[in-house]
Amino acid sequence: MTIHQASARAHTNIALIKYWGKKDQQLILPMNGSLSLTLDHFYTDTTVVFDSSLKADQFWLDDQRQSATKISRFLDLVRQRSEQKTFAKVKSYNHVPNAAGLASSASAFAALALAASQAAGLNLSRQALSRLARRGSGSATRSIYGGFAEWLPGTTDKDSYAIPLQEKVDWDIEMIAVIINRQQKKISSRQGMERVVETSPYYPAWVKSTQADLLKAKKAIQAHDLILLGELAESNALRMHALNLSARPPFSYFEPQSLVAMRLVEKLRTRGICCYYTLDAGPNVKVLCAHKDSQIIKETLQSVFAPDQLIEAFPGPGVQLINEK
Ligand code: ADP
Ligand code: DP6
Ligand code: CO
Repeated sequence: MTIHQASARAHTNIALIKYWGKKDQQLILPMNGSLSLTLDHFYTDTTVVFDSSLKADQFWLDDQRQSATKISRFLDLVRQRSEQKTFAKVKSYNHVPNAAGLASSASAFAALALAASQAAGLNLSRQALSRLARRGSGSATRSIYGGFAEWLPGTTDKDSYAIPLQEKVDWDIEMIAVIINRQQKKISSRQGMERVVETSPYYPAWVKSTQADLLKAKKAIQAHDLILLGELAESNALRMHALNLSARPPFSYFEPQSLVAMRLVEKLRTRGICCYYTLDAGPNVKVLCAHKDSQIIKETLQSVFAPDQLIEAFPGPGVQLINEK
């Protein structure tokens, strides 16, 4: 019996300019480039043990046995690359709500990419890791890097990966997550974006305008311009959610409390406080702001939300190996 194992930690990332549609479902190639901020507070720890005595892959999430179908397909890629056929035990712990629009699939597959490739004896570059993570979940391609990262859409498996834009974020920026619902969404990101690409008449306008937003957002990051970055992020998020309303059958990830949080952010802006919201495929709102304003923003949000619904997150690091517990 031979055993090879490795453990890795990856943080989630929240897209400021979003990926919402694939041009290749199999390879997970996106319709447009995207840009995100990796967060320190939310992460996944994953251990992969290749064990020659196993007859099939096994997967536990937060100590609960799960179906290993999706994980197995991903591990097949690692087995192909390392020219072996051994099955693995995968144990993962999410420090982020699962499937609630807080990017659990991003931290999950970035951590799995590093842990599985190391356990299989591969020593992949970060670019190769980013390409591998992409095959599990598109957003995971960006969680290889800390800080701000950009996913270059590419046209083939080889040229679709993320690059770091600013790994060490040396200016005052953070996100306050407003946790409205921790439950799993009914429509996964994968299903939601597929329906939009197939049925929204607005889809071509989304791709065109998002490409333009991305160029401007990169300049805003270089210039440390929180106002411009926030305006772009908020409007890009609303356009993504407008696609969902325009699909057939239509759907939305918003809940009444999401709109309440969005209105409070707008109200804070009329009082001169710089803050902007974004939402991924879920009801939870993320408020982009500077740390110097976070206290006043949290106080205002606390007129409606409980303190434990508000989580402050700062720019976080890229994926790394950890010692198994
Ligand atoms: P999210 O908004 O959380 O990224 P998605 O719909 O994109 O939601 O993805 C959720 C799916 O990601 C889950 O149903 C599960 O299959 C997978 N996932 C979440 N956490 C893990 C994990 N730690 N390891 C493996 N897969 C995970
Ligand atoms: C709204 O990466 O979760 O968070 O590639 O099908 O696994 P799959 O989808 P996923 O979609 C993320 C969508 C988003 C925007 C973003 O992260 O860019
Ligand atoms: Co996801």
